[in-house]
Formats: sequence, C-alpha cells, structure tokens
Amino acid sequence: MIYRHLIRPLLFRCEPEWAHDQAILWSGRLESVPGLVGVLSRLHRVTDPRLQVELAGLRFDNPIGLAAGYDKSGRAIGAMESLGFGHVEIGSISASPSLGNPKPRLWRLPQDHAVCVHYGLPNEGAAAVARRLSGRQFKAPLGINLVNTNQGPSAAPQNAQSILDDYCISAKALAPFASYLMLNLSCPNTADGRDFFDQPGILDGLLQGFESLSIDVPVLLKISPDGDASRTDRLLETVDRYDFIKGFMFNLSPSRRLGLTTPSDVWSRWPGAISGRPIRAWMDELTCRLYRQIDHGRYQIISAGGIASAEDAYRRIRSGASMVQLLTALIYEGPGVVKRINRGLIRLIKRDGLANISQAIGVDAN
Ligand SMILES: Cc1cc2nc3c(=O)[nH]c(=O)nc-3n(C[C@H](O)[C@H](O)[C@H](O)COP(=O)(O)O)c2cc1C
Repeated sequence: MIYRHLIRPLLFRCEPEWAHDQAILWSGRLESVPGLVGVLSRLHRVTDPRLQVELAGLRFDNPIGLAAGYDKSGRAIGAMESLGFGHVEIGSISASPSLGNPKPRLWRLPQDHAVCVHYGLPNEGAAAVARRLSGRQFKAPLGINLVNTNQGPSAAPQNAQSILDDYCISAKALAPFASYLMLNLSCPNTADGRDFFDQPGILDGLLQGFESLSIDVPVLLKISPDGDASRTDRLLETVDRYDFIKGFMFNLSPSRRLGLTTPSDVWSRWPGAISGRPIRAWMDELTCRLYRQIDHGRYQIISAGGIASAEDAYRRIRSGASMVQLLTALIYEGPGVVKRINRGLIRLIKRDGLANISQAIGVDAN
C-alpha cells in the first residue's frame, strides 16, 4: 500500500533509467549497514517446505527469482535476496564492459503495468563483476546471465568465433561464483542477439566451446520467444547432445507488441521490447508449448513475463515452469511483491491439496 500510493508515484515522476540506477545504488549501500540485510530478510522471507523446489540438482527455498536485467553487474545481490527471492539472477554480463544502447532506452507504460526496454546490455564486464563477487557468499542460489559484448552501433561487425569466445571468456571468469549460468542467446535489443544462433553450426560451436571449459555448474539457455515450435525442435536437436544444458527460459521479443491498451502514438517510436502484464498470457502459452516439447527427465523451465501475483506464478508453474522470475512487478508492485506471491502460493497449494509446489509443474500443459 505504502509503495503503491506513496513511493511509486514519486518514483514515476523520475526518469525511468535514473530511478532504476538509484534503486540499485541505494540497495547496494544498504548492504553495508550492519545487520540491515538480515532484518529485511526476516521481514520478507516466507519459509515453508511446500515452496521448496529443485532445479538442475540445486535446491531453492521458493520458486520466485529476480530476473536478469535488474541488477546487471551484481551490485546489490544481498539486498535483492533480502526481498525474499528464492534465487537472484544477475546480468546480462559480457566479456568486456559495455555502455549499451544510446539513451533514452527505458520507458514505462503505467496503464499496462509494462516497461519498454532498449538497454542493449550495459554492464561492467566479467572481470569487474568477478572481482566484486570474489569472497562473497549468498544464502540463495545465484544465477549469472552471460551475453556477447555489445560494442555499440559504430563498431565493426564481429565475426562468429569472436562472439562465441566472448561467452566462453565470461563463463571462465564467472562460473566459480555462480550456482547456474544462463546463456542469453536472444537479446532483443542488439543486432547479433536476434537470430545469430539460428545459423547452422553456431549453437553447436558455442556448446562445444563450453564443453571444453569443463564448467561444473548447470547451464541454461535464454532463447527467443519468436517463431513456432519447429524453431525449438531444431534447437533441441543440437542441445540434446550436451548433457550440461539443464533447461531453458524465454527472453522478451523485439517485435511483438500485442495486447497494449496504451495508445500506439505513445510507444510507436520507442525501439525495444515490452515486458510485464501484456506478455503474461503469451508467456503462459509458450511455457505450455515448450513443456510439451522437452524431455522432463533432462530439462526444466524457468519462466518470466508478467508475473505479479500468486495466481500468475501458480498458473505459470501449472503451464510447465519449475520456477518463475519477475522484474517488471518489482517496479509496479514494489519490494513486498515476493512475499505476497509466496504467501499466496501456500494458500493455493493448500486449496489444491498438494504436498509441494513441484506437484503443480506442468499439470495444465498436457
Ligand atoms: C529493464 C529490463 C532490463 C532487462 N535486461 C535484461 C538483460 O540484461 N538480460 C536478460 O537476459 N534479460 C533482460 N530483461 C528481461 C527479463 O529478464 C525478463 O525476462 C523479462 O523482463 C520478463 O519478465 P517481467 O515481465 O517480469 O519483467 C530485462 C527486462 C527489463 C524490463
């Protein structure tokens, strides 16, 4: 209530990227106040064995994670964890630091509880993030999302091998700190992020490179939501050969702008991808479709896109996700959203007579 009626109206008067930067900056500073993260954690954490999930051999206290893009360079992981998330995914992080796309590159669509994002992967680079993570321990599993360096609009085109090497350099630097790696194969906001990995042999080349690194944490792939089921089938043909790939999630779409109630003259000139409520039903459908396509003994799904309530999270899990993530709901609903979702999930688990949330995975997909 306080967030929605007092803090959000103030924040929404500020330029969106500035507000986001301040949120990360101040969250990071809170971590240095002795005992504060512990107090926040006790306030937000919902502890109940019925919420515990397993993914790729890792145990998570609850199925709600922070999606990549909020804490891009891992500057406020402890503070984010203290909001009650079962895991935090930082990134996307690339081998070299990047400034991302020119500003402005983030817009709010309050009427739709959505965001239009065209960041283009600004981050401090793998070496700087590795230095920041060195010696730190976190309570919840930490996902690290990796991507190719966006060298900016005026850079010469990169050859394929240097793109693949970029992922491998970051993986080597950051795997020691990660509970899992998420390879972002589909950034909607960079030219090479859209269909580069559809080209014959490219994904195979990347996965061969990873195999030779002998990384000992599970790896998941963040893939494009565009295209039909045959695109995923082609991807699975390649991925099936690599045991270390444990699952998938969908990224945002660079082109899909359906379901917005905000008039198009507001957003038609903004480049970028839409997150939040307008993509919720579509992501439910895609999660169902992917769940039906994959071998459940081998792969699991993490799903993001418009999750803002317990009902949203439960429906997505019933559609096939083992865990969900959110980002836009943190902007619209505030820091209490994770606790509300986890409490609501317990209510839904009880209502349906389940012993654990995992029993709901995929029940609506078949
Ligand atoms: C501001 C913003 C920045 C994002 N940055 C990244 C990113 O760097 N890497 C990535 O894989 N996904 C990124 N995403 C996508 C999110 O991780 C997530 O998949 C998507 O926003 C859907 O969830 P939501 O509707 O809860 O926001 C970003 C999304 C937003 C809104």
